[in-house]
Amino acid sequence: MISRYRFGRPYETNAVPAKPVAERGLPRYFSVHMPGEELEHVADRSTEVTNPGGVEGNPLDSGDPAKRLFFTYAMGADDIVYGLGEQTHGMNKRNFTYVSSCRDFGRHTEDCHNLYSAHNFFIVYGDRTFGAFFDTAGTISFDIGETDIDQIRVTLEFPDCDLYIIDGQGPQDIVRQFRTLIGRSYIPPKWALGYHQSRWFYKTERDFRDVAERYRQAHIPLDALYMDIDYMERYKSFTVDENRFPHFNELVAELGDRGVHLVPIIDAGIKVEAGYDVYEQGVAENRFCKDAAGNDFVLGVWPGHCHLVDVMVPDNRRWFGEQYRKLLDRGIDGFWNDMNEPSIFYTEERLAQAYAKVDGLRATALDVDTFFDMCDTFAHLSNNPDDYKLFYHTIEGERVRHDRVHNLYGSSLAQAAGESFSSLSPDKRIMLFSRSTMIGAHRVSGIWTGDNMAWWSHLRLSVCQMPNIQMCGFLFCGSDIGGFGSDTNEELMTRWMQFAVFTPLMRNHSQSKRAQELYTFKRIDTLRHIVELRYALIPYLYSELVKASLQGTLYFKPLSFDYPDDRRARRVEDQLLVGESLMIAPVVEENARGRMVYLPEPMRMIRYRALDDYDAIDLAAGDHYVEVGLDEMLLFIRPNRMVPLAAPAQTTAEMDFDRLRVLAFLDGTRDAISYTLYDDDGYTTDIDEPEHFHTVTVSTEAGVSCDTKRVELA
Ligand code: GLC
Repeated sequence: MISRYRFGRPYETNAVPAKPVAERGLPRYFSVHMPGEELEHVADRSTEVTNPGGVEGNPLDSGDPAKRLFFTYAMGADDIVYGLGEQTHGMNKRNFTYVSSCRDFGRHTEDCHNLYSAHNFFIVYGDRTFGAFFDTAGTISFDIGETDIDQIRVTLEFPDCDLYIIDGQGPQDIVRQFRTLIGRSYIPPKWALGYHQSRWFYKTERDFRDVAERYRQAHIPLDALYMDIDYMERYKSFTVDENRFPHFNELVAELGDRGVHLVPIIDAGIKVEAGYDVYEQGVAENRFCKDAAGNDFVLGVWPGHCHLVDVMVPDNRRWFGEQYRKLLDRGIDGFWNDMNEPSIFYTEERLAQAYAKVDGLRATALDVDTFFDMCDTFAHLSNNPDDYKLFYHTIEGERVRHDRVHNLYGSSLAQAAGESFSSLSPDKRIMLFSRSTMIGAHRVSGIWTGDNMAWWSHLRLSVCQMPNIQMCGFLFCGSDIGGFGSDTNEELMTRWMQFAVFTPLMRNHSQSKRAQELYTFKRIDTLRHIVELRYALIPYLYSELVKASLQGTLYFKPLSFDYPDDRRARRVEDQLLVGESLMIAPVVEENARGRMVYLPEPMRMIRYRALDDYDAIDLAAGDHYVEVGLDEMLLFIRPNRMVPLAAPAQTTAEMDFDRLRVLAFLDGTRDAISYTLYDDDGYTTDIDEPEHFHTVTVSTEAGVSCDTKRVELA
């Protein structure tokens, strides 16, 4: 059951396509507090409410406390809180404060409160189990037991939101209802499930040819290469530097013929430059955000001075989406949207203040206060929340300051792209993922978790982020494998790849000095075998992804979702269920050559080295220490479940998805088991056509069979 409660006048976020009628009265579970204003919903003014401020960088510090809306909930001691999407910390979100205030921030450390996105849905799982979705475009914070270990305190900077409370038969049912409410999750084309190589480094046609060629020579499958900002002419979105890419169309076609897709980045800031058509048209047609004086707002990003499209105006979204045609027409069929929080390196206002301060200090002998004050001034130039108060949108004719709807910016750009694809490419799915999103963008886009580091803690973080991101609707997700910042090493890369075999987006991306293309490492065979396993698993992973989208279920689940009565399983955060048949237990510890694994029920463990070299061992329920060499990885097949496998090839395009093998684990309690396999041409937009669903049956008597495909037992 879902109930909606309205507070104030929230701006439309497009998160919920068909809103249920709002309830009268107060929401279940929460106490509502609104200091400073009379409000129908005020339930309890007696509780002293503090905001989670006082923490450096917490954007709520900048708002007006007199206008804030607060919700509190008393947690049971053993309650678990899931959700909140890509936020840091564990899978269970207790003991920290998470702020939805989209930010370009590359240090995802334990004290980081806000990242790129605003995923305002969580589930309390325990004494009382329910879901809560705070649908607001403004800044909101979730103090999940940081200030008071037993209390959830949700604070909205502006007192406008729709609150949805969801009750159901446990967390899976709550997720399913929530996902039905927010609409079907984006499904990428099948090639997007291949292995992708990216690096903020490739600058010329030759660079791309070389990387593709070296992957071929190393016999490591590859489906996509990414074009970071250097492909553009002076960082102008939707342009191609024709000097460095004189034969761009031919390059796209040539790599495309080999099954390798080129995926360009699209940045939000539009360069101010005479002669640049997007800029000139945007100015002429009045499509950019305005400053207080009504001029096109200027911010500094990669190209220097830029404008931002006012994506709150539907026709501007259409116009921005139209720009993708320039690259689609050249053969491109995948994009990543970036810097769309929107990221602001500087504004002239803040720069002027900083210069003035330095000028004032120039002849001074700096002491501790003046020196650090000067440093802070420059450290806070970028992505300063105050800059989000300097420009305006037009929403239904009303001028709205950006900070009121800040979190919607990246989502609206994704929406612009997604909507344009449905008219520019009606018969072919286009791959899209975005750095900044809100719930709602999950219908048109995937996400990646931004600029992580080559740290073991970030491999662990990625394991915890995935199910929480998916609960919020974004099924197509992944992290930069190996780490985006700082130099990776071969062991970290290997372990990260072993986990990323299962993430729907499997992209190696970095800006590091050390190259991290797989062929640059010493034990190439190990890395190749990992990628081959990924390709072999695509029939399973693709089926599970599509079914999760159509049924509102999860592809990645915490163990507690399927084993609700198992108190041990509830606390496991370094193992995940992947689809209906698999459990994984990635090694996320440096130098480990084994790990403890908890089995909530008996499972068949596959200790994988290569497709034709693995141990299959049946293990009883309980704790096991399992050895896992660096060239080995673990997967566990659940009882009476199966996993279809295809023979890998150098690209998904070269694979034969009509001949499959099946890894099955019949535990003797059933004579036959079946599996619903999804398969299509990889592009089709009529995903739910019955002809794409196939039943695979394995029985003790008759072996394996499928109505439409040739299958055999592995
Ligand atoms: C941002 C992106 C990163 C990209 C870089 C240059 O930091 O998050 O993925 O490589 O910009 O475009």
